[in-house]
Amino acid sequence: MKILVTGGAGFIGSHVADAAVEAGHDVLVVDDLSTGRTENLPASADFHPIDIRNAKVLRELALHFKPDAISHHAAQASVSVSVREPVLDADINLMGSLNVANVALECGSRLIFSSTGGALYGEVPDGQVAGEEWPASPKSPYACSKASFELYLRAFGHESGLRYTILRYANVYGPRQDPHGEAGVVSIFVQRLLRGEPIQVNARTRQGDDGCVRDYVYVGDSVRANLAAFEGVLDGRTINIASGVATTTRALAERLAVLVDRPAIVNDGPHRAGDLERSVLDPAVMVSILGEPTPLERGLTATTEWFRSQVRP
Ligand SMILES: NC(=O)c1ccc[n+]([C@@H]2O[C@H](COP(=O)([O-])OP(=O)(O)OC[C@H]3O[C@@H](n4cnc5c(N)ncnc54)[C@H](O)[C@@H]3O)[C@@H](O)[C@H]2O)c1
Repeated sequence: MKILVTGGAGFIGSHVADAAVEAGHDVLVVDDLSTGRTENLPASADFHPIDIRNAKVLRELALHFKPDAISHHAAQASVSVSVREPVLDADINLMGSLNVANVALECGSRLIFSSTGGALYGEVPDGQVAGEEWPASPKSPYACSKASFELYLRAFGHESGLRYTILRYANVYGPRQDPHGEAGVVSIFVQRLLRGEPIQVNARTRQGDDGCVRDYVYVGDSVRANLAAFEGVLDGRTINIASGVATTTRALAERLAVLVDRPAIVNDGPHRAGDLERSVLDPAVMVSILGEPTPLERGLTATTEWFRSQVRP
């Protein structure tokens, strides 16, 4: 198959590109390298440093390649950037994504969209998990742009027969996640622990509590979902890609300190403006089609080992 991966030089997209190459597919990567890195790219993938907002060039490239499926990961992926720059967020995540949808329509490609379960459902009360049927309740421009594009996909599916899959990722973690940004608490903690630097648990409500509650899902589970979607197994579906396990920031910090095997200096920080207190998703649909998610312990071990392998002696 021919697979176009947008954002394929980034964290999740590069793992999808790797797996697609490994599965024997022809892979074309489009990425403007705003947060992605060429080191992440699989050697045999064809790479074009293109902004998805450049409709003309994107179209020419895609019409030439004629992808069977497009795995759309290119995005402004930071909630806090979206709060500061909502127009930029909409420009990339909505207008840029519409260019990708147009290409999918013109080429007859399946479109697999990386949406957000972590931000889309808003606050998930204690004891509950958000299922796909929960109404969208965006609390940030990022969640708005992702939710809006989901609506466009449904409309295109209805009107023009676009074959699409919406993957609502929880908090994805794993090797290659950028520890320098504001997202990716697993990568930030692991890197700081390896360097013997203090880590900070931001409050859920009051300084000194166990921090926000999140659903951490291993990047390999996102990859599995993409590979299945390429085959058409998930056509027309909207699926949470999640573990369903509620983990506080403090529990995560303690577990990582054990895995890194370094004494941890844990500071308590205030609540970070805009952070949801609790986000945990229901993975039942994913489990029924794709099998069980990677256990947290196994995913965190693989991630820790990868970051350790990156430390220069
Ligand atoms: N990481 C998570 O926990 C998570 C959760 C939910 C959804 N997502 C979504 O998954 C996708 C990948 O996220 P990630 O964590 O790998 O982030 P990332 O920043 O590592 O990857 C995004 C990639 O898109 C590229 N990009 C950004 N703007 C572009 C543009 N205008 N044109 C072309 N390329 C552009 C970047 O250079 C980068 O390589 C995003 O759509 C994100 O919104 C991620």
